[in-house]
Amino acid sequence: MRIVDIIGKKRDGEGLSEAEIRYFTSQYTAGAIPDYQVSALLMAIYLRGMTREEIVALTVAMAESGDMLDLSDIVDYAVDKHSSGGIGDKTSLVVLPLAAAFGVPIAKMSGRGLGFTGGTLDKLEAIDGINVKLSEAEFRRIARDSGLVISGQSASLAPADGKLYALRDVTGTTASLPLIASSIMSKKLAAGANGIVLDVKTGNGAFMETVEDTRALATIMVQIGVDAGRDMVALIADMNQPLGVAVGNALEVAEAVKTLRGEGPALFESHCIEVATQMLRLAGRGERWAEADETRAAVMQTLRSGAAFDRFRQMVADQGGDVGQIDDLSRLPVARIKHRVNAERAGYIRQVHAGTVGRATLALGAGREKKGDAIDYAVGIEVHASVGDKVVNGETLMTIHANDEGKLQRALDVLAAAVDYSAEPVNPLPLFYGMIDGGEV
Ligand code: URA
Repeated sequence: MRIVDIIGKKRDGEGLSEAEIRYFTSQYTAGAIPDYQVSALLMAIYLRGMTREEIVALTVAMAESGDMLDLSDIVDYAVDKHSSGGIGDKTSLVVLPLAAAFGVPIAKMSGRGLGFTGGTLDKLEAIDGINVKLSEAEFRRIARDSGLVISGQSASLAPADGKLYALRDVTGTTASLPLIASSIMSKKLAAGANGIVLDVKTGNGAFMETVEDTRALATIMVQIGVDAGRDMVALIADMNQPLGVAVGNALEVAEAVKTLRGEGPALFESHCIEVATQMLRLAGRGERWAEADETRAAVMQTLRSGAAFDRFRQMVADQGGDVGQIDDLSRLPVARIKHRVNAERAGYIRQVHAGTVGRATLALGAGREKKGDAIDYAVGIEVHASVGDKVVNGETLMTIHANDEGKLQRALDVLAAAVDYSAEPVNPLPLFYGMIDGGEV
């Protein structure tokens, strides 16, 4: 087999066989094919697309390029969730303990944030002492003993994706549905889940801006999972305004904890209840939690009972974190400056631009411009207004938490265009635009 022939086939619009896809994936990972040839192939894939069979073959080849985590000695059925990333998206911190509170063991490998969407590991590291770089042995031990663990994914998980993603980044081939879907799903397949809930965000603070594009991406990801033998559900969730009130690491941990105590913002709580419901539906596989409405009610009750909070607290303790900060949220990192942004007029909120709030949070130092940048855990923005709210002139719409006057000013400059008003009533944004069930693709 020759890589030039494979490039030529894709360039001419022909399909690639599973063997050809396996060949270039494994040879590239092993360093036996140079970047320039794989760049040409990626561009051909970008322009010509891939069939469902090709996408599944690419995903499985990338997943199998490294270790495939086998959790079968710990759990009968491993359920995972994945968010495509959004502003204020601390859903994992709530839904994983929630599922664990139902006796569903959770052994989750999470990622870090890049750009204006934060990663779960970064948020957790706002808690002093917490270890999210567990060895596989520690990861397994906590999963077995406590039933809830969240750690970073090991370098040996889907290494082909790591190499291909870096190359896509510098060759203008990132925004390709087959390449995005296979990239995300390769890591999910390698992480050992039997059932996966995808929380795919759509809107100006998301990777995909239109519902149509998002649905197309979600459908491909669900198809990949189904063809690889997994149970799949994708939710298409709004990301035109931030999710919840808090954006920024320590602020988001505090909001997650409040939500776990049944005191979280209503919209964020509803989002979490839906994601957890779908996780439990998969975990029960139509048996124990067959009825979604029943499950929703049980999930809500578990939030109110404090059982999910106890599971989160236990996880923090198991991973070496300071539980005192969870019990007393004022002990989480706090920023020096609090600056209010007030409504400039009376009216109805037409827009709280999620992408803009994300960029402003990045300007405060809450995220990374590039890989390896340090993060300021204390800074961020609380967004008190949602689309559809009626506000009076001077009402506080946001509170900015900053540690540096210059960065505060930059954040304010970015935020200048974030909020838009209407004199007429405005409908609230939907939380979800639909669901794609693995049984229907
Ligand atoms: N996240 C990934 O892991 N891969 C992509 O290609 C895009 C988002």
